[in-house]
Amino acid sequence: MLVTGGAGFIGSHTCVELLDHGYELIVVDDYSNSTPQVLARVERIAGRFVGAVYELDIRDRRALSAVFDRHSVDAVVHFAAHKAVGESTRMPIEYYDTNVGGTTALLRTMHDHGVHQLVFSSSCSIYGDAGHGPLDEATPARPTSPYAASKWVCEQILADVCHRCPEYTVLCLRYFNPAGAHPSGLLGEDPRGAPDNLMPYVAQVAVGRRPRLPVFGDDYPTPDGTAIRDYLHVMDTVEAHRVALDHLADGPGMRVYNLGVGKGSSVLDVVAAFSEACGRPIPYEVAPRRPGDATELVADATAVARAWGWHPTRNLADMCRDAWRFQQLNPSGYAGSARRPNTKD
Ligand code: NAD
Ligand code: WQD
Repeated sequence: MLVTGGAGFIGSHTCVELLDHGYELIVVDDYSNSTPQVLARVERIAGRFVGAVYELDIRDRRALSAVFDRHSVDAVVHFAAHKAVGESTRMPIEYYDTNVGGTTALLRTMHDHGVHQLVFSSSCSIYGDAGHGPLDEATPARPTSPYAASKWVCEQILADVCHRCPEYTVLCLRYFNPAGAHPSGLLGEDPRGAPDNLMPYVAQVAVGRRPRLPVFGDDYPTPDGTAIRDYLHVMDTVEAHRVALDHLADGPGMRVYNLGVGKGSSVLDVVAAFSEACGRPIPYEVAPRRPGDATELVADATAVARAWGWHPTRNLADMCRDAWRFQQLNPSGYAGSARRPNTKD
């Protein structure tokens, strides 16, 4: 199994899950938003080695092709992408190049090597500001940022490839808001620079790295005035990927599923749950709305439950408890911990 972006937040947790279930893994990552230390932690938790690790940019087709030449790849789980919505509005070309160009470079290489099975990371951000109530997969895509548009373009390319080339199977998973950490406290979310996302920001406030949380808007039409999201434990997210791999053999074509809990939590709900987890109040101040933020994004995730029997089992308190454990044990993230060497050519 080839995992692109396997050193990232969701990728690293997926590697543990797949190693735990006996998979042989080949990881490629350029560490543009991660570090090689992560994979040493993955191996420590799993008690097994990742088969091979290559530091490469997936847009480098020659390097990627050499990996496919060297290993027998049966399927690919494709996480590698840039993911910061705000940054994408300032660097749209970088986002289209990495996210769309990276996906087509991967597809080209898979095609050249006769590999036709792919699990693709998509995002609830493709729905844009779709309004109130749970969103199912038939909700029209209305991306409002280059990041979201890049994911939607990839979905369309993959759907068209599946339509025209009957040997392909693509499982496209639209994650809502993955959060939390591995229960060991060894793996978690360690963004570079100031976190864009709510949960790692709250965790850094709790540990004293940042003075207070800016709450982006308290004038939304929601019960407490703050925006509502569907937070999904990263361990539930990665279990869905493991289940997806079992369903690659169901037949060709593209299938698209939302991954979420189906329950909305406001920003202040997250603040309260994290305060409970860490046993201290989280200082915050209300700031202006963040441009482009939707009022409410909650998944209707009944399709994946029907198709695969996948249900998330963890709640917001579990996410906060695990994110807090990771933050406490790693107040500066992965900095300073042991590296895992790359596989040599
Ligand atoms: P992440 O940034 O932690 O992980 C992405 C990994 O890909 C990083 O290790 C990065 O170094 C690597 N990478 C980036 N560009 C690369 C390239 N050109 N070549 C090789 N490696 C490259 O992000 P994440 O949160 O783990 O997200 C994983 C995937 O899930 C992404 O595709 C993201 O768009 C998608 N997604 C994430 C969320 C979320 O909230 N975290 C929600 C929906 C979808
Ligand atoms: C959650 C809520 C913020 C930070 C994005 C992508 C989505 C997916 C997850 C990739 C919002 C508020 C945040 C802060 C705050 N990623 N907030 N203060 O924007 O729902 O989703 O990440 O695909 O596609 O769009 O997640 O964690 O940034 O924000 O008040 O310092 O927390 O305004 O309401 P978001 P988030």
